Amino acid sequence: MRLRLCHVNEIVDDRLLAEMPDSGDPVLVIRDAQGVHVVDALCPHQYAPLLGGELADGILTCPMHHWRFDVRTGQSPDMPVCLQRWDAIVDDGWVWLTGDD
Ligand code: FES
Repeated sequence: MRLRLCHVNEIVDDRLLAEMPDSGDPVLVIRDAQGVHVVDALCPHQYAPLLGGELADGILTCPMHHWRFDVRTGQSPDMPVCLQRWDAIVDDGWVWLTGDD
């Protein structure tokens, strides 16, 4: 699978709310020193939008109840919950979702 998600220039202030090309579901694109990460735009707890969450050292904190997620793995460092994430690469300025079909 290889789906074009967005252009890197669309990512402003380290993040972008985008839509999955196949479903239209919202996803959060995050750019940091480690690269580009694509995660669910909604918190798995009570579905708060994560776009406004604090991001520090790869840890995204939900603005509603402060659950934390590592955007590189989706795992919470605090509890056994996981934020859905997708493999992504940057190629020729575009962010692509990759992975098995
Ligand atoms: S909705 Fe995100 S921690 Fe509760």
